[in-house]
Amino acid sequence: MTKITIAIDGYSSCGKSTIAKALAQKLNYSYIDTGAMYRSVTLYCLRNGIMDKKHHLDMDKLMKELENIVVDFKFNTHTKTSETYLNGENVEHDIRTMDVSNNVSKVSSIKEVREKMVALQREMGKHKAVVLDGRDIGSNVFPDAELKLFMTADPDVRAQRRMDEYSSHGQYFTKEEIKLNLNKRDYDDTHRKENPLTRAKDAIILDNSDLSKEDQLEFVLKLIADMQLTKDSVA
Ligand code: DC
Repeated sequence: MTKITIAIDGYSSCGKSTIAKALAQKLNYSYIDTGAMYRSVTLYCLRNGIMDKKHHLDMDKLMKELENIVVDFKFNTHTKTSETYLNGENVEHDIRTMDVSNNVSKVSSIKEVREKMVALQREMGKHKAVVLDGRDIGSNVFPDAELKLFMTADPDVRAQRRMDEYSSHGQYFTKEEIKLNLNKRDYDDTHRKENPLTRAKDAIILDNSDLSKEDQLEFVLKLIADMQLTKDSVA
C-alpha cells in the first residue's frame, strides 16, 4: 500500500490526537503531535523565566534561547505511542497542565517559534507514512498531504473530554473554566497572524460529537482504502 501523509487539523479538544494515534497504530505510521511541540516550548519558557503565568513574555531572552530548545518524540513500546521530549526529558505529563494551556497561544503565535517548529515537522514527516495533528498541518506544513481531515465537535462534548483528560492527570477544573480556556484558544488560533487555524479547501470535515473512536477509525480507513483504489484505477 502506498505510504501517505495524513494531516489532521481542528479546534482544541476535538479528539484529533485520539484518532491520530489510532490511525498511526493501525497503519504502523509515525505520529507527530504538533501541539505538544508548542506546549514544550511554552513549558521551557515558564520554567526558565522567559514567561510568567500572566502571559508576560521576555522576547529577547526567548530569541537568545530558542536554539537551545530541542523538542523531539520517542516511541514508548509499553504505551505504543510516541512521547514528547524537551531537551532529553520526557515532558508528556508536564506539558498537559492548565498553566501550559493558558500560555501556549502566546508562544505559538510567535513567528520564529513557528518557523522552527514547522521546519522540524517537515523534517520528521519527509518520508511520509506519518500522521500529524495540529492547526496548520493541511494548510501550511504539508499542503500536499494526500489525506486532510478537519475535526469538529460539539462545544459541550469538547469541554467534557478535556475535563476528563485533566482529571485523569489529577487536575480538577469546572466545565466553565475549561470552556473559557477552549474559547480563548480557538479565538487566538483562528485570529493570529502566523499560520492561523483554517480548514484547507480539500480537507474532509469529521464531526465526531457522537462517534466512538472505532467509528472514526473505520470512517478514515475507508477513506484511505477508497483513495488507494482510485489511485490504482487511474495508474
Ligand atoms: O493540540 P493542542 O491543544 O495540544 O495544541 C496546543 C496549542 O498549540 C494550541 O492552542 C494551538 C497551538 N498549535 C498551533 O498553533 N499549531 C499547531 N500545528 C498545533 C498547535
